[in-house]
Amino acid sequence: MSIQEKSRYREVYARALSDPDGFWADAARDIDWIEPAKKTFDPAMGLYGRWFAGAVVNTCYNALDRHVAAGRADQVALIHDSPLANPGGPSVITTFTYAELLKEVQTLAAVMQDFGVAKGDRVVLYMPMVPEAVVAMLACARIGAVHSVVFGGFAAKELATRIDDAKPKLIFSASCGLEPGRIVQYKPLLDEALKLATAGPGACIILQRPQQRCDLIAGRDHDWTTLRDAAMAAKKSAPCVPVLATDPLYILYTSGTTGVPKGVVRDNGGHLVALKWSMFNLYGVKPGEVWWCGSDIGWVVGHSYIVYGPLIHGTTTIMYEGKPIGTPDAGAFWRVIAQHKVVAFFTAPTAFRAIKKEDPDGAFIRKYDLSEFRTLFLAGERADPPTVEWAEKQLKVPVIDHWWQTETGWGIVGNPVGLGQLPVKHGSPTVAMPGYQVDIVDEAAKPLPAGTMGSIVIKLPLPPGCLPTLWQQDERCKEAYFNEFPGYYKTSDAGYKDEDGYIFVMGRTDDIINVAGHRLSTGGMEEILASHPDVAECAVLGISDTIKGEVPCGLLVLKAGVTRDGAEIEKEVVALVREKLGPVAAFKLAITVNRLPKTRSGKILRGTIKKIADGEAWTMPATIEDPKVLDEIQSALKSRM
Ligand code: COA
Ligand code: AMP
Repeated sequence: MSIQEKSRYREVYARALSDPDGFWADAARDIDWIEPAKKTFDPAMGLYGRWFAGAVVNTCYNALDRHVAAGRADQVALIHDSPLANPGGPSVITTFTYAELLKEVQTLAAVMQDFGVAKGDRVVLYMPMVPEAVVAMLACARIGAVHSVVFGGFAAKELATRIDDAKPKLIFSASCGLEPGRIVQYKPLLDEALKLATAGPGACIILQRPQQRCDLIAGRDHDWTTLRDAAMAAKKSAPCVPVLATDPLYILYTSGTTGVPKGVVRDNGGHLVALKWSMFNLYGVKPGEVWWCGSDIGWVVGHSYIVYGPLIHGTTTIMYEGKPIGTPDAGAFWRVIAQHKVVAFFTAPTAFRAIKKEDPDGAFIRKYDLSEFRTLFLAGERADPPTVEWAEKQLKVPVIDHWWQTETGWGIVGNPVGLGQLPVKHGSPTVAMPGYQVDIVDEAAKPLPAGTMGSIVIKLPLPPGCLPTLWQQDERCKEAYFNEFPGYYKTSDAGYKDEDGYIFVMGRTDDIINVAGHRLSTGGMEEILASHPDVAECAVLGISDTIKGEVPCGLLVLKAGVTRDGAEIEKEVVALVREKLGPVAAFKLAITVNRLPKTRSGKILRGTIKKIADGEAWTMPATIEDPKVLDEIQSALKSRM
C-alpha cells in the first residue's frame, strides 16, 4: 500500500467539507466547555458567521486546570531553555510542571484583578522570551482579559501604534531582552512608546531581569516579582472567568499594506478546537510528549505553538531563548532536541539556511542522540527545496512544510502526520487542511485549472480558529480580506495547485516581504524613508538573501537642491528604520538614485527592479515612462551589491 492510501486524510477532509458542523462538533468534544454551543456554526453572526455560538468556556482552564485535575499535575508543562542567559556556559533551564504553572497563573491573574483588570479589558505584553510572558498570557485568558503581545524586536513607535489601537488597561514588560552579544533594554523603549501613545495604561508591571535592571517610574511602574511574591504569600488565586466562545482571547498585530498594522482578533472557542485538533492530526504529537516550536511569542506561530496548542493538548512545550547558530554553535537545535527528548520541532526555513551555512555536512547533528525525534515542521516563509532536501538528508526524519498566516492562526495547507503522512513534494506545503477550501482564482474570482498561477483564496466560511474580524475595524477587515473575491477570504499569497491537489505557495501579491520568517510591510518602510527631510521619493523592495530569504532594499531620490553627501543620507535612513520600525526589519541597504523607474501612469516598477536586483531575467515593460531609468538603476544596484 502507498503512503497515500494509508492516510486517512482524504476521508477526513471530505467529511469536513460535506458536514462541517458535524466535523467540528466532534472535534469540540476534546474541549471542556462550561456550556455547550447553541449552534456549532451560526451563519448569521459576524462577518461570515461564527463558530460555537453561545458556548461558554475558558481557554486557561483548558490549557492548565483540566490537565492538573486529570493527573498531569507533575508532568512538565513548560521548559524554558536559555543559552543567552549564560553565554559561554551551559544553557539556563527552568521547568514548570502543570501544577506549578497553574499556580503562577492563578497568582498573576489575581494581581491583575487587583489592578482592576476585568473581562474584555486589553493588556499589552512587550516581553522577551521568558516564562513570565507565558504566565501573563494565560493569566489574561484566565480572567477573560484580551492580551496583545508585541514582538520585542519592534521599536517604540510600533509599540505606541499598537497601544493606541488596543487601549490597554495594563502593560506587562521587562527590563531587558537578550540578543547575542548585546542586551536589549526594553524599558526605555516602553517609556518612549508611552510618551508617543495617547492611550496610556493605568499601570505597567515590569520584570527586572538580572542581566540589566531598569528604573521604575513611581506611581506607574510596579515590580513584577514583588507583586507576585506578595500575592503568593497571601495565597491569592483568581478562578477562571467564563467567557463566550466568540469573545476575543487576543489581538495580534500584523503588517498590513500600509504602515498601520492590522489587529487580528482570535476568539476563544474556535481557537481551542482548531489548535487541539491540529496537535495530533497535523503534527502527530500525543499528550505527554515533548514538543518544541522555535519561534518567538511575539508572532502567531509562538502564540499557537509555543503557548496555546501544546498546553491545550497536554504536551510539554519548550520556550527557547537563543538562536540556531552562535548560541553557542550550529548544534544548538540538536542539543535542545536531545536534552529534552523532543519528538517534533517546528521552525522557519531561515534557521535551517543559517545552520546549513555553518555546518554544511551536519557534523554537529551527529554529536547528539536524536533517537526520539520524529518530525521537523517548517513554516513562516516558502521552504525552498534545497533547504528541505538538506534537512531530510541530515536528519533522516520527514521534513514537513506547512503554510499559514497570522490571520488563520493554524495551518491552512499542510501534511497531516497524525492522519497519515502524504508523500512530500518539495516546494509544496502539501494539501488543504480540513475546513479550508483553498482555490486558485483569477482577477474575476474564477477558479483556474491545475498548474496555473493565480491568487490563493479560501472559500468562506473560514474554519474555527481563523480571524472573525480586525480589532474594532469590521470595515477594514472586509476591505482587506473579503471584498475583492466575493465569497472568499483573500490570502494575498499567489500560487498554484497541481493535479493531485497539492498547493504551491510562491509569494505575496501585496507589498509584504518575508525577512527571516518575519512579515514586514515595504509600504511601512517607505513611509519612514519618506519622512526624512532630504528624501523626495522612495521605493522599498524585498531582494533575495541566502539566509533570510528576503531583505529590504530602499531606493531614494533626493529632493532638488540637496547638496549633502548621498552616502550620509543613506546611513541616516538606515538608522531611521531601525529607530522607528525596529532591528527586526534588517533594513541595511539604501541606495540613492536620480529617478525611480515608473510606468506612464506613475506606478513604480518594483517587480522589475526586484528582478534586476536578484539577477533574474527581465524584460523592458511596455508601459515604462523612460527606459533609460532602468539602466541607471541596474548600474546603481550593481555597484552596491
Ligand atoms: N528583541 C530585540 N531585538 C531583536 C529581537 C527581539 N526579540 N529579535 C531579533 N532582534 C534583532 C536582532 O538582534 C537583530 O539585530 P541586529 O541587526 O542588531 O543584528 C535583528 O533584530 C534581526 O534579527 P533576526 O531576524 O533574528 O536575525 P539575525 O541575523 O539575528 O538571525 C536567523 C538570523 C536566521 C538566525 C534568525 O532570524 C532566526 O533564527 N530565525 C528564525 C525565525 C523564526 O523562528 N521565525 C518565526 C516564524 S515561524
Ligand atoms: P505571518 O502572518 O507572519 O505568519 O506570515 C504569513 C505569510 O508568510 C504568508 O502569507 C506567506 O506569504 C508566508 N508563508 C508562511 N508560511 C509559508 C510557507 N510554508 N510557504 C510559503 N509561504 C509561507
